[in-house]
Amino acid sequence: IFADKAAACRSLAAELAKLIRETNATGRSVVLGLATGSTPIPLYQELIRLHSEEGLSFSQVITFNLDEYLGLERQHPESYWTFMHRQLFDHVDIPAENIHIPSGTVGDVAAHCAEYEAAIEAAGGIDFQLLGIGRTGHIGFNEPGSPRDSRTRRIELDPVTREDAAPAFGGLDKVPTHAITMGCGTILAARRIGLLAFGAHKAAIVREAIEGPVTDQVSASFLQDHPDACFYLDRAAAGQL
Ligand code: F6R
Repeated sequence: IFADKAAACRSLAAELAKLIRETNATGRSVVLGLATGSTPIPLYQELIRLHSEEGLSFSQVITFNLDEYLGLERQHPESYWTFMHRQLFDHVDIPAENIHIPSGTVGDVAAHCAEYEAAIEAAGGIDFQLLGIGRTGHIGFNEPGSPRDSRTRRIELDPVTREDAAPAFGGLDKVPTHAITMGCGTILAARRIGLLAFGAHKAAIVREAIEGPVTDQVSASFLQDHPDACFYLDRAAAGQL
């Protein structure tokens, strides 16, 4: 629990920088699972600062994003492809071929999801998975009912999730109804996991995830059973613990 989100993001960015530098020193690439949404923006800003001011290189970093809205072209302003390039990738030295984000416009969704899983496997698995949490308790877009062993797949977005996205899209009717998301099983296979949550509006679901029963009604509760998962909270998000 940190005084504010800036402090939480500085701490996690320092950990990630250490992981990147240590892994690179062994000659291996480091594999990061990344999240979108408003929560990780200060973390990405700190990583960009570490790159520009402290020489942190992303040239050996491989990334896999959690999810993408179905039906959105890469160039759509609200696509997660656009988000990640604007918020991080355009500002660091990551090679384009190291970036993986599910496609929102692929024809054969099932085949695309299987390829995504195979690409994670081929990269050696995820070293560190970054997460946010939705008000439904979702990690990625694993809405209530997502099985613990679920893998990358098409999912219908919960009405609460679509409502939360409506302002960014300029109206609920413009928010996609479906997405592609890594599954709970895909996420839980990561060697380390860090979940960021900030603000009083996350306090109730953070409490359920950490102190409630482990249940598929709150995907983030599965993290209780992961050997190396950590929540990075500001005081407001920790307010009901
Ligand atoms: C984003 C993602 C989601 C968000 C969650 C919180 O890639 O998978 O689980 O992390 O919806 O979103 P924000 O940070 O906007 O509150």
